[in-house]
Amino acid sequence: MLDRNNGYLNRRDFARWMMAGGTVAALPLAAFACVKPGPLPPVPPVPDEAFWTSVRRQFLMPRDVTVLCAANLCPASAPVIEALLNATRDIDKDPGAENRRKWVAGREATRRVLAEFLNATPEEIVITRNTSEGNNIVSSGIDLKPGDEVLLFADNHPSVNAAFQEKAKRFGFTIRVVDLVEMHPGPEYYIDAFRKSLGPNTKLLAITHVTGSVGDLFPTKEICRIARERGILTLVDGAQSFGVLDIDLADMQPDFFTGSAHKWPCGPKEFGVLYINRNAQAKIWPSIVSLYGGEVGASKRFEALGQRDEAGFIAFGEALQLQNKIGRKVIEARARELAQRFIEGLKKINGVKIWTHPAPERSAAIVLFLPGSTDPSKLAAALYEKEHIVTNARGSGVRGGIRLSPHFYVLHEEVDRTLAAVRKYMASM
Ligand SMILES: Cc1ncc(COP(=O)(O)O)c(C=O)c1O
Repeated sequence: MLDRNNGYLNRRDFARWMMAGGTVAALPLAAFACVKPGPLPPVPPVPDEAFWTSVRRQFLMPRDVTVLCAANLCPASAPVIEALLNATRDIDKDPGAENRRKWVAGREATRRVLAEFLNATPEEIVITRNTSEGNNIVSSGIDLKPGDEVLLFADNHPSVNAAFQEKAKRFGFTIRVVDLVEMHPGPEYYIDAFRKSLGPNTKLLAITHVTGSVGDLFPTKEICRIARERGILTLVDGAQSFGVLDIDLADMQPDFFTGSAHKWPCGPKEFGVLYINRNAQAKIWPSIVSLYGGEVGASKRFEALGQRDEAGFIAFGEALQLQNKIGRKVIEARARELAQRFIEGLKKINGVKIWTHPAPERSAAIVLFLPGSTDPSKLAAALYEKEHIVTNARGSGVRGGIRLSPHFYVLHEEVDRTLAAVRKYMASM
């Protein structure tokens, strides 16, 4: 019925659907029923726009909607939604434990996929509800007492720093903070800054792999090594790197690493990962103790969060499998290339100030820019309402502006039309 637009539901079709008596509540299923993305073609040695167009067809976004908010929330692909719906239907037809047993097996399969995805072992993988939960399992679970110190980075996500500050009030440990430098001064600068800030009482260091603010990329491997050599635990927040960078935790060697399925992995909402290095598992306590933990390693203690959405576990695995089919390195290269295309285009627009450093060792797939004297929130609203381009407005002034976070479902033509729209509205607002 609604298949004229490469399988996408466009706005005109949407209007027809509504006029024909379709209800919003029924729409997701109805829209989904129309989307038959077909199998992905083999990945060419040098993936071209034709290949990326077939990748985009795996998603439900209409052709005229450009989604540049991966750092906030990514769309789940059609196969992920299908997996979620299939399992949900099955479970709700028969919610008996006997019927659900097969989905529990699927949860362990997802754990194995996750372990391979991050180059870890299944025993080190805990499937959480999001990055915030993983971070809090760590900040609540380490024995920290008066006299101990935790080292934070000023531009960690508020969910990390606020949680440590709250727990410092309760348990009496102190916090030291490594300052942010406005334009990323390079990995060496931060390696040195963290090294100098570690003291004899530092017990834990919490950093961000890629910041959500401007997309600064951190030399996590080196910082973890320096901490490890001094017996200091490390928490790496991977909310903005998991599902876009080709992460190798055996190489990075953090004690804890966290991420969300609903961001760059394009998985279901309210799923995430907490990696707990085998060497750190005896140094952390679970803060939530309930039933239904995982079957191996750390998941037995740290994943026992009570009843979960079994369908979501399956969908999470499906999201990772889609990325595996395309290839981790291929996805990273594509997202980085799209970000570079934005940076190059923005440089040519008069008055634009780009806060994200373009060097590949200083940023990845997030670009923040200030649109001169144009109000960022008004520009973002015009992009959304008039052009159907989804971005994130993030304040104004220093390190304020519009955040663009393109991912592998974005096409070159969408980058170019966004740049043209930014230019147009900056000239007219
Ligand atoms: C670096 C970073 N950490 C943590 C979070 C929180 O993620 P979630 O809401 O999925 O827990 C975000 C959200 O944008 C983030 O950017």
